[in-house]
Amino acid sequence: MDVKLTSEQLLKSTKDTIAIFFLKDHIKTNEIISKFTPELKTLLQAVIGECEFTAEPDQCIPVHTKTNPRMILLVGCGEKAKFNHERARLALSTAIRTANSLNAKELSVSITVPETDSEDAVISLAETAHLCTYKFDTYKSEKKPIKLNSLILADAPEKDFKKLTQSLQAGNVLGSLTIKTRDLVNTPPDVCTPDYFADYAVKLGKEYGFKVTVFGKKELEKMNMQGILHVGAGGAHPPCLVTAEYKGGKGKKIAFVGKGVCFDSGGLDIKPANGMDTMKMDKAGACTVLHVLAGCAKLGLKGNYLAVMPLVENMPGNLAYKPGDLIVTRSKKTIEVLNTDAEGRVILSDALFYASEQKPDYIIDVATLTGACIVALGNSVAGLMGNNKELAEMLKSSAAKRYERVWEFPMDDDFYEMIKSDYADIKNVVSNTPGSGAGTITAAKFLEVFVNNTPWVHLDIAGPAWAIQEKGYLSTGATGFGMRMLLQTAIDFSG
Ligand code: BES
Ligand code: ZN
Ligand code: ZN
Repeated sequence: MDVKLTSEQLLKSTKDTIAIFFLKDHIKTNEIISKFTPELKTLLQAVIGECEFTAEPDQCIPVHTKTNPRMILLVGCGEKAKFNHERARLALSTAIRTANSLNAKELSVSITVPETDSEDAVISLAETAHLCTYKFDTYKSEKKPIKLNSLILADAPEKDFKKLTQSLQAGNVLGSLTIKTRDLVNTPPDVCTPDYFADYAVKLGKEYGFKVTVFGKKELEKMNMQGILHVGAGGAHPPCLVTAEYKGGKGKKIAFVGKGVCFDSGGLDIKPANGMDTMKMDKAGACTVLHVLAGCAKLGLKGNYLAVMPLVENMPGNLAYKPGDLIVTRSKKTIEVLNTDAEGRVILSDALFYASEQKPDYIIDVATLTGACIVALGNSVAGLMGNNKELAEMLKSSAAKRYERVWEFPMDDDFYEMIKSDYADIKNVVSNTPGSGAGTITAAKFLEVFVNNTPWVHLDIAGPAWAIQEKGYLSTGATGFGMRMLLQTAIDFSG
């Protein structure tokens, strides 16, 4: 999708289609319409009356004008009191879907969005254009490509044009890298093996200008990464560790760590069919942090950024790791395996410790870690945990800017007591008897052991990484959740 910014007035910005956003409270006094020609004003007022347009969220009425622009979409945005930048994203998604279904090629909207400053509006509208037109159709023999290929953001004041052009670039980078993230998460597990991921990362690094290093199985052995090697032992495709690095100046160093389980069958503690069919998504954390690095490079941010991605297949087999295994990780801390399906924390033990050895100011990890997090927060909100209040607040604020929702869990010491092991330092599950509780927090307490006191935040994205149905600007399958809030975090730290 091509997104352009123009200082032209909305009405004159295209001959094709424009969309106007309406608040319920201002249907009759909409500022944008007040600038229209008397003929168009009369036409729109008549349609609003006839169609009983009430500006409910997602209501969208097309009006054919017989002049330029040929079509005007009246889009509902609900009440003023409940309006925010997310409502603007949803309204634009509705407008884009409707315009496309009515064969429009070009759609124009005003950047004068209620309750939103123009820079925020441009970023949010531009990112949405990419997000809501995405569909994973690589494997469909009959594709239905989207006909609408251009979005114009009109009414940009001349005096702000330069700064709004930067906002447009940020929105384009946020949106386009999120759909690249979705594509990689959606790539099926017979294709996206650890090796494939590593090759993809190398290519992306060349394209966007960041350094990628791949540590293969032999190197992992030398590096004592027994957590990654144990989990990866059952897969026919060997494990690896991929790192990506971008140095933009003397700013803070942030290490992003992402869980990269290319397929999670559960291993010997095998999952039932209804828990396994979406498990190609278990690499979403790694896909996210890789594309965050691409965003840092593309935007030329001023900090130092590192991404660490442990990649494995979690499979049963005669070499597979076993319940009862006692693993000596790179950090020398030992893990008792009680359940091979709690594999994410085992590979992250080595990845987080390796990240801490690079002496970053902050570590942020992203992982589809626990089903318990879905029980607690559902499919739209990620769990947030950590060891540092300021960093947690920073992430909450960056997440709110992009409307990726997070919710913080407590991390008191008694949760750590629950994962102490009789034979090793810690165990990878509290117990195999259901009902021990706090599955999301005890997983985070496990991870905390390996960050070596570095200020750290963990995001459990098991719920929001995957969409069961098309909704708003999400299509079925991978959502790319985390990419936008983490690139926003990098931008915010960049100052
Ligand atoms: N990858 C899963 C978590 C998951 C579940 C992600 C559903 C997305 C959707 C993880 O490796 C796992 O299997 N966790 C177990 C942990 C349990 C054995 C303590 C779980 O949540 O059931
Ligand atoms: Zn698992
Ligand atoms: Zn998993």
